[in-house]
Amino acid sequence: MSGYTQELKELIKRVEATRHKRLESARQGHQFPPLTMEQRKEWLSEYHPDYKNEGRRAVRVGPNKGDVFPEEVADLLESGSRILPEKLVLDNTDYETDILVIGGGGSGTAAALMAQANGCKVILATKLRHGDSNTVMAEGGIQAADQENDSPYYHYLDVIGGGHFSNQPDLVAAMTNDAPLVIHWLESLGVMFDKHPDGRMLVRHGGGTSRKRMHSAGDMTGAEIMRVLKDETRNRTDIKVLEFSPAVELLLDTEGKCAGAILYNLETKEYYIVRAKAVIMATGGFGRLHIQGFPTTNHYGATGDGLIMAYRAGIKMRDLDSTQYHPTGAVYPEQNVGLLITEKVRGLGAHVLNIDGEEFCFPLEPRDVESACIIRECLEKGKGVPTPVGRVGVWLDSPMIESLHGEGTVKKELPAKYIQFKRYGIDISKEPMLIYPTLHYQNGGLMINSKNETSLPGLYCSGEVTGGAHGRNRLMGNSLLAILVFGRRSGKNAAEYVKGAVEKKSKPGLTIDHIVKFEKELKDALITNNAIGPIILPVYAPDHVKKRQWTAAV
Ligand code: FUM
Repeated sequence: MSGYTQELKELIKRVEATRHKRLESARQGHQFPPLTMEQRKEWLSEYHPDYKNEGRRAVRVGPNKGDVFPEEVADLLESGSRILPEKLVLDNTDYETDILVIGGGGSGTAAALMAQANGCKVILATKLRHGDSNTVMAEGGIQAADQENDSPYYHYLDVIGGGHFSNQPDLVAAMTNDAPLVIHWLESLGVMFDKHPDGRMLVRHGGGTSRKRMHSAGDMTGAEIMRVLKDETRNRTDIKVLEFSPAVELLLDTEGKCAGAILYNLETKEYYIVRAKAVIMATGGFGRLHIQGFPTTNHYGATGDGLIMAYRAGIKMRDLDSTQYHPTGAVYPEQNVGLLITEKVRGLGAHVLNIDGEEFCFPLEPRDVESACIIRECLEKGKGVPTPVGRVGVWLDSPMIESLHGEGTVKKELPAKYIQFKRYGIDISKEPMLIYPTLHYQNGGLMINSKNETSLPGLYCSGEVTGGAHGRNRLMGNSLLAILVFGRRSGKNAAEYVKGAVEKKSKPGLTIDHIVKFEKELKDALITNNAIGPIILPVYAPDHVKKRQWTAAV
């Protein structure tokens, strides 16, 4: 039984009608030509959501005052605190530790492991369960230049080109140089990467890569990495994990250093004060803000919490006006809408096709360009495929993979995708998928240097909450890489900072004066949008979405 409607089944016949010819051409090494640099520029500016003026506005307070961001981000950065400063008593702390890590995804966990390995006591506070994060949702792979024909130098050039030369060079150098070390570290901890029968790593291309350097574990690479990192954390003493405990504000001390955070226990509804000698912010991205109304690949907790906490403490952002729309989000069936269809599908040779079964773009353009091509084909050319509920998409011809690489390849290489569609009666080894761009990644974020330091002493940041490494467009496989490179660096550097600090007889007091100051700035700017941040969990009731009234302060 097929999960496609009769109308869609009829349209699939057009895809099948062109498949044989397309396969022949692919076997002879022919491909749809990539766009020229000029065309890329033109199509991006005309069709990519980032380049639209609507849905954006200048933020009116804080370190980025005057910068234009998506409305959803600007609203978050202008939100009020959950904490009523006059009611908060900071005399007693509930926990004391060397390093507080905020966020239990891949970056926070890597940071906790390195901080502990470098002699520190660590508390890792996470909003949901340890591991609930975008890391576990990452499918296709992790880049590292560890093959004979490759080098971090080529990787560096690809990253800078993919980011349209807007990246922060020291972060790109750190990321690409540390990449082989990260793969080695993951293997030593027990990550099972895909390999050739003789034991060599199996590597593939991703969009915008000049060498094959995508390491994978089926189409569940992030889940495999998180499985191992989480186990490792459990095996180490000196790392205490607090689940269902999102941070809601940073704490500073009277010397102006970051000195902990206020946590909110989602189960008991109590607030906790954690005092720490250093804090590592690794809260992940903002997909659940649904910028411009797009669905998202992101996990439920991806509400950009770290952005607002750090912003109130004076940390500046970069590139937050740039959002990554993954070209291939599911658009049918409804239950799958927005979910990620890994780029590996195109890496394995699947074509992207319009309603007539025709190719209209090179399938491995950088993501922003590929998304612009798909949007153009649907909206400008009118060559999209309508779904029964009025969405529009294009075909991703996954059955080609079986023809190109042999029967059974789809199930072997894409087991999670296979199940995700089979559940709804669609066999992606025999039928194509319907796709459209989906909100995938926060390209920009908090500003750091290559030691993961921020402008606030004692505050380190890593992973998707930061900006700079990817510039204005991230390439596939560099998010898993970045969370680990910078998670490890932040753990190690924060530990060094803690060990280098001079112990004083009496500790300086804790303060939230920065929140008082920020609230005053909001008031002076006459901002009364009633938004409360961090959002913690998205609310999907229709009224809330329309009015952007987030979970109220408790
Ligand atoms: O397409 C993917 O598998 C996504 C990978 C990534 O965002 O790095």
